[in-house]
Amino acid sequence: MTIPFSPPYIDEDIKREVLSTLESGWITSGPKVLELERLVAAQVGLTHVACCNSATSGLMLLLHWFGVTRGDEVIIPAYTYAATALAVMHVGATPVMVDSGADFNIDVSKIRHKITSKTKAIIPVDIAGWPVDYAELNELINEVEVKQLFSARTEVQKALGRILLLSDAAHSLGALYQDKSVARWADFTVFSFHAVKNVTTAEGGAMCINLPTSFDHQFVYRTLKLWSLNGQTKDALAKTNGAGWKYDIVFPGFKMNMPDICAAIGVAQIRKYATYLLPERKTIFDAYLRYFGTKSWAQLPPADTQLKKTSAHLFALRIKNCTETQRDEIINLVTEAGVSVNVHFQPLPLLTVFKNAGYSINDYPIARSSYASEISLPIYPGLTNHQIAFICDAIEGAYRQVING
Ligand SMILES: Cc1ncc(COP(=O)(O)O)c(C=O)c1O
Repeated sequence: MTIPFSPPYIDEDIKREVLSTLESGWITSGPKVLELERLVAAQVGLTHVACCNSATSGLMLLLHWFGVTRGDEVIIPAYTYAATALAVMHVGATPVMVDSGADFNIDVSKIRHKITSKTKAIIPVDIAGWPVDYAELNELINEVEVKQLFSARTEVQKALGRILLLSDAAHSLGALYQDKSVARWADFTVFSFHAVKNVTTAEGGAMCINLPTSFDHQFVYRTLKLWSLNGQTKDALAKTNGAGWKYDIVFPGFKMNMPDICAAIGVAQIRKYATYLLPERKTIFDAYLRYFGTKSWAQLPPADTQLKKTSAHLFALRIKNCTETQRDEIINLVTEAGVSVNVHFQPLPLLTVFKNAGYSINDYPIARSSYASEISLPIYPGLTNHQIAFICDAIEGAYRQVING
C-alpha cells in the first residue's frame, strides 16, 4: 500500500467551480476572491478578511502596514516554519526567537524578558492547528509596563499604542479558543491556503482584521487590498467594468493579489469545510489518539479541551526517549512500508540562514527535543480506516524494530 502524506482535496464541486471561473472570462482577482473573503469572514465570525497570494505575503504585508522596519524587533517562536521569520526579515526587522512549550507552541511565559523598546509585534503560531495561549498573550501586550515600553513611530503604531499581535494561523483555520475562532483573538490573523493546508487555493492566504473598534476596518481592508495590488486605485476588473481606464498608484505597493482561478478552489472547499472537511480530519485525529493512546512509548499531540479546539491540521506524534537518529530510522522504515510521513518542524536555528545570523539551537532546548522525536502522520479527508490501521501498524512495527530490535 502507498499512502501519500497530504494530497490536495479535489472533488467534482471543486472542478466545477474552477471550470466555471475559467469559462467566466475572468481569472485574475475579481468576484471569486471577494466571495472567498466573505466565506472566510463568515467562517471565523469577522467582518473583514483580505485575501492575498500566500500567508508569507500576508504576514509581510501586515508588518509593513504597521510600519515595522529596520531596527525593529518582532518576537516569534523558534519552533515554526521559516516563513514566520522570513516575513520579519523581508521588512528589514529582526526576529527575536522564543522557545516552545510541551504543546509545540510558543511559551508565553518566556516572552516577557525578550520584550524591549524595539519590539513592535509578536507573531505566535498555532502549530499543527493547536491554538496558542491567546488570553495570556493579550494580557501581556496590554500590561501597563509593556505598553510603557512600546515606542510608537508611525500613525498606526500611535493609534494602537502597544505591541501588535499578529497571529500566524497558517495551520489553524477552524481552530477555536474559548469557542471562538482563533482569528478573533489577535489584531490580525493570517491563514494559509497552500496546497497542503486544511483549505487550499493551491497557493494563497487570508488576512483577517480584528483591530480594536477605534480602527476603521473597511479602511484598513481597502488599504491592504491596495498594498497587495501595486497600490493601484482601480484593479483590472474595475477598469474592465466601465470605471474608466485611468488609475493612480498611491503607494509603492506589492504584487501579492490572489487570482480568481485560485479562489475558486478555496470557495468550493470552504463551503464544505465545517460540515465535511474539518470533521473528517478530526475523526482521523481521534482514531490516531485512540491507537497511540494505548502505547506507553507514544507522546500524543495536544487534543481538544474546554478551552481549545484543534483544527487537526497535523497529527504530530512524538516518540518518548528516542534520539533524533532513531526517529529518522523509524521514518525510513515507515517510508519503505509505503507510508509518507513528515517532520514539523526543524527549529529555525537548525537552518543555515538563521545559524548564519547567529541564532543557536542551544537556546531553545524544548524546541530541539520536540523536533528530535516528532513524526507527522498523514491526516486528510478520504483516508480510510484500513489506511489508518496500516499507518498505525507501520509506525508501531518500525518503533519496535528500531528501539527494541
Ligand atoms: C507555520 C507556517 N507559517 C507560514 C507558512 C507560510 O504559508 P504560505 O506557504 O501560504 O506562505 C507556513 C506554510 O507551510 C507555515 O507552516
